Amino acid sequence: MESSTFVLFGATGDLAKRKIYPALYNLFIDGKLALPFSVIGLGRRQLSDREFQSNVEQSLNSFSRRKPHDPSTLQAFLSAFRYCSLNVSQPTDYGKLLTMAREREAELGIPENRIFYLSVAPEFFGTIATNIKQSGLGTGQGWKRLIIEKPFGHDWQSARELNEKLSQTFEEHEVYRIDHYLGKHMVQNLEVLEYANPMIHALWSNRYISNVQITASETVGVEQRAGYYDQAGAIRDMFQNHMLQLLMMLAMHLPRPSNPEEVRAKKKRVLEALRPLNRGDVAANVVRGQYDAGEIAGRNVVKYTEEPGIDPHSNTDTFIAARLWIDDYFWTGVPFYIRTGKSLNEKSTRIVVEFKQPLQHGDAVHNYPPNLLVIEIGPDEGMYLQLNSKDPRDGKIEPFITTSLGRPTDVPEAYENLIHDALEGEPTFFAHWDEVELAWKWVQPILEAFEANEVPLRRYRAGSAGPEASYRLLEQQGHQWWLDK
Ligand code: BG6
Repeated sequence: MESSTFVLFGATGDLAKRKIYPALYNLFIDGKLALPFSVIGLGRRQLSDREFQSNVEQSLNSFSRRKPHDPSTLQAFLSAFRYCSLNVSQPTDYGKLLTMAREREAELGIPENRIFYLSVAPEFFGTIATNIKQSGLGTGQGWKRLIIEKPFGHDWQSARELNEKLSQTFEEHEVYRIDHYLGKHMVQNLEVLEYANPMIHALWSNRYISNVQITASETVGVEQRAGYYDQAGAIRDMFQNHMLQLLMMLAMHLPRPSNPEEVRAKKKRVLEALRPLNRGDVAANVVRGQYDAGEIAGRNVVKYTEEPGIDPHSNTDTFIAARLWIDDYFWTGVPFYIRTGKSLNEKSTRIVVEFKQPLQHGDAVHNYPPNLLVIEIGPDEGMYLQLNSKDPRDGKIEPFITTSLGRPTDVPEAYENLIHDALEGEPTFFAHWDEVELAWKWVQPILEAFEANEVPLRRYRAGSAGPEASYRLLEQQGHQWWLDK
């Protein structure tokens, strides 16, 4: 562990308060931060260091999984924080920041390792990166790293332009693109699924697997993010990033422990083998939905186009389901069904792997329920199997579910894992540019088909499991969504 300076753009923002400060605090109390460490928070407004530290303290009290109890530990943590007001497009402000960073480095006796976390709107990424370069902030004696969050662009073209700008200041190995799904415990677990489980390894191919279903359903609607969400829709907000990351993590073939480069290469191979979707085929393979009024857990929900800030004529997708094919040695012929949506009946991210029925008993045709491997990503975490057994009373074959892997208590949150990895220079669970670009390339025809209204917009009741059409998508292959509420 090497000490560094954590330079946070957007230090008064929501993400900083809810996720970043609590993550740093929990790393600190777990002894996972190299000491001494320095944090410089940046924002447009004027704040004294004392005010800034008190904001950080409040955020810990509200959002940290472990609340600060011990005053001296809290004080030791807060004393690392300094504030610098900065206008992101004002080059002289970066000079001020450099002076502060150097002063703190000298004071604490730490190397010029600097990690820049851009918790700001993506339109500022390019300007900030350029100013980091021109001010000399990025050319110290130590290492430099950049953490950014999605959205990485709005489409394939804009993502490339953004990457081009960033790459003038940061090399690919210095960029840590957060996809917070990759920080989730059960997503990280997918790395070991095959090589740590000989049973799964033996069955992990199209020979035994019938289809794979990946669902991320949410009960929340657009919330207070109308301006962003109405431009993004489920396709950009969830599908292009989180859902395709889940697909890569599940479908990559990792029969033995591997280094970060190998893991990323295997993930990339999955996207390279994804059968491209021509624009003309989008309507047959993708369901686009938007929620209507309804009720979720006793709460009345207005329809999407009546949500505050949403264009009343908006065609934005709040639900998407798609059928994908990975044309490689392992997965040819196995459909991967992916769906995600807002204002649905359940908050749950889940992967279901359905196994084939390869056993024939003479001429008899058996119709037993299939074996399933279920991976609960969140908020429940666990893994279990659906097997069949004989009911002792009537001899009927019935499915039963094995006990789930329980969630250990006090598990680090996604942001803790990711910030820790970035500080340690461990890139496995960050999105490499190649993945981001291939993902945009794959969804591009869908964006265009949606834009041109070539895919019907299916309404679904808020509080339901989504549009009927998403069931028909599976029925075409003789499949069904499992474990729907
Ligand atoms: C974010 C999306 O990336 O992920 C949100 O922008 C979504 O719209 C959220 O609600 C879901 O994350 P989680 O961890 O609650 O499944």
